[in-house]
Amino acid sequence: MDNIFLIGFMGTGKSTIAKGLSAAYHLKVVEMDELIEKRQGMSISDIFAKKGEEYFRKLETELLKEIQHEKNVVVSCGGGTPLRSENVNAMKENGKVVLLNATPESIFERVKNNHNRPLLENNKNVDYIKDMLAGRKDKYFAAADIIIETDNKSREQICTEIGESLGLI
Ligand code: S3P
Repeated sequence: MDNIFLIGFMGTGKSTIAKGLSAAYHLKVVEMDELIEKRQGMSISDIFAKKGEEYFRKLETELLKEIQHEKNVVVSCGGGTPLRSENVNAMKENGKVVLLNATPESIFERVKNNHNRPLLENNKNVDYIKDMLAGRKDKYFAAADIIIETDNKSREQICTEIGESLGLI
C-alpha cells in the first residue's frame, strides 16, 4: 500500500496517530524528528542552536528522499516538513498526505510543557501559535490529500477516520 505521511502543526498528534496507524494497519513508523536526532546525536533544540534551522531543513529533505524508497510506512513528519515544495513532491510520489488539524488552543495545551520545540520555546502562547498557524495554513492544506479535524477526538476515532478515508477499512 501507499505510505502515509502525517503532517500538521506542532502538537497536533502526529506521533501518537502514527503509533495508532502502525498498530492498526501493520505499518512501520518513521518518526522524522527522532531519527534526525539519533543520527545527529543531538536534540532538535541543539541542532537548531548549534547548526541552524537551514541545516535541519536540509536533513529533513534528505530523509524524505530516503523514505521514498520504502513501502508500508507511516511517517510522522516535522511540523515544518510540508512548507518546502520539494518535500511535498517527495511525499506525493509514493504516499498519501494526511493533515492533522487542530485549534491554536488545543495545540497550546499539547505543547506547553515541552522544551524540545525551538520555534515555540520563548513564544508559548495561543496568540503566537495562532499567527504561526495562519502563516502556514495554506501550505498545509495545499499539501494534504486528506484533512482530519482532531479536536475532541480520541486516538482511535482519528485512526478510524484516516483508515476509512484511505479505504483501508
Ligand atoms: C518544527 C516542528 C517540530 C520539529 C522542529 C520544527 C516546525 O516537529 O521538526 O522543531 O517547523 O514546525 P513537531 O511537529 O513534531 O513538533
